[in-house]
Formats: sequence, C-alpha cells, structure tokens
Amino acid sequence: MRTLLHGLLDRSAHPAASDGSVVLRPFGEQDIDQLIAWLDEEALLFSWAGPGVRYPLDRSQVTTYPESDATGSARSLPYAAAAPGGGVVGHVELTEIDARLRQLRLSRLIVGDPALRGRGFGRAITLRACAVAFERLGVHRIWLSVPAGNKAGVGCFERAGFTREGVLRECLPRQGDYWSCVVMSLLDREWEKARRRRSPALREALLAQARPPQRPTLDQAFRAYPRIF
Ligand SMILES: CC(C)(COP(=O)(O)OP(=O)(O)OC[C@H]1O[C@@H](n2cnc3c(N)ncnc32)[C@H](O)[C@@H]1OP(=O)(O)O)[C@@H](O)C(=O)NCCC(=O)NCCS
Repeated sequence: MRTLLHGLLDRSAHPAASDGSVVLRPFGEQDIDQLIAWLDEEALLFSWAGPGVRYPLDRSQVTTYPESDATGSARSLPYAAAAPGGGVVGHVELTEIDARLRQLRLSRLIVGDPALRGRGFGRAITLRACAVAFERLGVHRIWLSVPAGNKAGVGCFERAGFTREGVLRECLPRQGDYWSCVVMSLLDREWEKARRRRSPALREALLAQARPPQRPTLDQAFRAYPRIF
C-alpha cells in the first residue's frame, strides 16, 4: 500500500508530457553516469539494448559514442532528451544509419525515471528523434525492433505512428530462453501525412530543432554531428 501510494504521489508530482515537451541534444560525457544509473537492472538493460551490452553497464560500453565509419561519418547518433527546464529525462539513438538505403534504426529509447513513464515522454522523445531523421537527415524509412513483451515500448512506438511489420520469433537468446521481437517502421510519407494533422504549434516545435538552413546531404549531416540535433 505504501509503495502504491508513493507511486501515486510521485506521478502526481509530474505533469503529463505534451508531444513538443522535450528537446534532444547530443549525448555527451556529462550524461554517461546518469544513463548508467538509470539502467541499474539486468532485465531493464536487456530490454533497452538487447545483447549489445553486458550487465552491469559501465563507462567502457558507452564512451565510444558517436560511432563512426572509416570515412568519419557518424553511424550512430546518440541523444539526451531534456525537458524544457533543462533536466535530462531520457535517451534515444539514431543508429545503423545507411545513406545509400536512406534508412536508419531508432534504438535505445528510455525514459529514465520510472515515475515519468506512461506520461507521454517516450512518445515525445520518439517524435523528436523522427523529426531529426526525416526533416534533418532526409531518410525514407525509420525502423526498430522491440521485445514483443515490452508493452510500453510497442505502445509508445505505435502512438508515435509506427506500423508493426512482423515478429522476429525467438530472436534474442536470454537466460536459457528466447525473446521474440516486433519489427516496426515509419516511412517519410506517413510522417508527412501525420505532420499535416498536427497543430501548427507542435509542427513548429518539432521542426524548430530539426530544420537546417538548407537541407544538407545525408553524408554532410552525419559529418556535422554533433552540431546537428
Ligand atoms: C518504453 C518507454 C520508453 C515508453 O515511454 P513512456 O513515456 O513510458 O510511454 P508514453 O507515456 O509515451 O506512452 C505512449 C503509449 O504507449 C502505451 N503505453 C505506455 N506505457 C504502457 C504500459 N505500461 N503498458 C501498455 N501500454 C503502455 C500507451 O498506448 C501510450 O499511449 P496512451 O497513454 O496515449 O495510451 C518507457 O516505458 C521506458 O523507458 N521503458 C524502459 C526502457 C525500455 O523498455 N525501452 C524500450 C527499448 S526498445
């Protein structure tokens, strides 16, 4: 009962997020400890990044950001998500960036404080990341993979406009068992259509950080990181 009451009190202390209520900035050295502190449980870490990282998360596994290929183009753009007051509320990455296929993968989304989950921040961060990918980087397709049992994850991406493509059955070995993953995607024309339905204020808010003076080529945009966000 005490825990339940505590949860309710915590939740009432945090108003729900609107879709325009976070901004993304490049994930930096100063954000690493916070990210590690959020991901302090093995199951949560696996849900966040799959087998790509080992528990416990440590600095050696996050300091390589941003990852680059041989030409120096960033292939993985990690972001810290900040609320208007400046406090960091989450993290997300644009990764597996493929300029030739004009697609990338959205990954490693987290709303750090459990008391803030279920209040719209995940969707708000996802929309921001999509705005950067479509409006700034000019990709055609964003895709992602989320454990099928992660209801909040699947729901968050659906509410941000993603379509389920199918299930990768038992694709993740985990502690003698296998997890299945839902693959989801969002196309530029679907983003565009959804954009027309948004209020002018939200449209402006989403574009504000994503709009370049002139749209750079995909490759130029990656090279310009971390100024691009
Ligand atoms: C997954 C996560 C990022 C979602 O962010 P969130 O802020 O909790 O989600 P939102 O409040 O934006 O929810 C968006 C939609 O998801 C669905 N949803 C959210 N939480 C849910 C839950 N616990 N159960 C079922 N559906 C849920 C709802 O449909 C919701 O829309 P609605 O409130 O309009 O009905 C967040 O829960 C989290 O950080 N989880 C731990 C890390 C993780 O699992 N990351 C995913 C890696 S792929």
